[in-house]
Amino acid sequence: MEFTVGQNHKFNLASVSELASSSSRASDTPAGARVSFDSGAAELRFYRESKSNKAIYVPLRTAQLFKLSPVESVCITESSDTSKEKSYSRGITIQFRKDEESRAFHCAFEQWKKEVVVQGSCSQNGTFPASNNKFDDKIAASSAKTYFDFYGQLTHQKNMLLDYVRTGTYYAAIIENRADFVGRVVVDVGAGTGILSLFAAQAGAKHVYAVEASEMAECACKLIAGNPSLGQRITVVKGKIEEVELPEKADILISEPMGILLVNERMLETYVIARDRFLLPNGKMFPTIGRIHMAPFSDEYLYVERANEALFWQQPNYYGVDLTPLYGSAFHGYLSKPVVNAFDPRVLVAPEISHVINFTSIKEEELYEIDVPLKFIASMRARIHGLACWFDVLFAGSVFQRWLTTAPGAPTTHWYQVRCFLLQPLDVVPGQEITGRLHMVAHESQSYTVHLTMSTKMCGPGADQERILQSSSCKFDLRQYHY
Ligand SMILES: C[S@@+](CC[C@H](N)C(=O)[O-])C[C@H]1O[C@@H](n2cnc3c(N)ncnc32)[C@H](O)[C@@H]1O
Repeated sequence: MEFTVGQNHKFNLASVSELASSSSRASDTPAGARVSFDSGAAELRFYRESKSNKAIYVPLRTAQLFKLSPVESVCITESSDTSKEKSYSRGITIQFRKDEESRAFHCAFEQWKKEVVVQGSCSQNGTFPASNNKFDDKIAASSAKTYFDFYGQLTHQKNMLLDYVRTGTYYAAIIENRADFVGRVVVDVGAGTGILSLFAAQAGAKHVYAVEASEMAECACKLIAGNPSLGQRITVVKGKIEEVELPEKADILISEPMGILLVNERMLETYVIARDRFLLPNGKMFPTIGRIHMAPFSDEYLYVERANEALFWQQPNYYGVDLTPLYGSAFHGYLSKPVVNAFDPRVLVAPEISHVINFTSIKEEELYEIDVPLKFIASMRARIHGLACWFDVLFAGSVFQRWLTTAPGAPTTHWYQVRCFLLQPLDVVPGQEITGRLHMVAHESQSYTVHLTMSTKMCGPGADQERILQSSSCKFDLRQYHY
């Protein structure tokens, strides 16, 4: 059985009864609980399915929940006798049928306290308290809405599932490393449909918390309910990693947080925040490290094709209007969009270099600005049109180490590869050194502003090897790419 932590969700309980009340003793009557705003304030309502038993209302603001045993808890709250203005404590004993149901309820309770009570205070004083979650602080609300609307659609989730290289590699990495999952607590960071949570359950996880912020959490609940032998060990938690509460820490995190060029979408930061919030010391992360690979490329056809898009603006007489003043801006605009597609590795003119991001140790803030010095030795005479990039991630299991690669020449994934253009191509001969910098600065629209500079050095007999011969650069928004 699985649960969402959404406000409207009703939990099924074995029974509920009030402490110190002669009229309501514990019984086997099935019961339920949910959060309600019907009275104007956030309340936890306990129902008993027998008609003679009235519902019990508990104000969430003052409620506290304690575990007495794996399947028994007590909810303590204040109640006041308004006629005499005295306060008393009330206790409600809750019996669960299973340990997992108890855990899910405690998890939901924490979430309700955190979110619903905040909403309750909003309705009372008319203002929301300032956000204290890292996601909302650094990401524009409009970007987050578009982003989670996108992932809330099954059609986009399907595209990821249809990427067999991606999904098959995750499956293989999890199943062949059963030893890392058997009897372990897992958190699935950005669970989407819950597919990775189901894989983790297949690998023998004791319990999986599938955290998903978009409406896809509802679909994850359905998928998990439809696979009950696995689903009984999965709890879907609807909310952002940065703000949800979980009832226990994880032995292992699983996630698919990669965007194009690895870092687009800024979900790696969420993955690292999940590590800091929920992973036990020495816990594992699947994937464990990521690498961005880079090499200069030469592709005259692609460069001309992109540049020619601007030719429209070279018309001196468009209905009597000279369009040429806009040609430079248009040319710059087309070449400033990185091209995302698959290319033949033969377009690379030098061996690649790599930038490693270790998910187990990097600080979240280190992902706000990524600065990669570039240094290549040309292996052929060529005209360099820009920098080609791709990435891979490693699942460092204790049994098998498996790479998921998006390299050119390897089976294509939905990430393809990325090629960034220089505004001016650079000419090189074999052995010539190419230096430069790839500087990426995160922005509030869940992507990066990228500054690319590449230079060639003098080369050949008698040349001053340190002198820059040619230099070219480009600046672009990684979010605005061309497919
Ligand atoms: C690339 S998809 C992967 C989905 C699924 N794990 C899979 O492999 O098919 C990333 C998912 O993470 C969710 N997500 C992104 N940022 C999140 C955050 N801060 N908290 C919770 N979920 C998040 C997205 O809504 C999306 O469904």
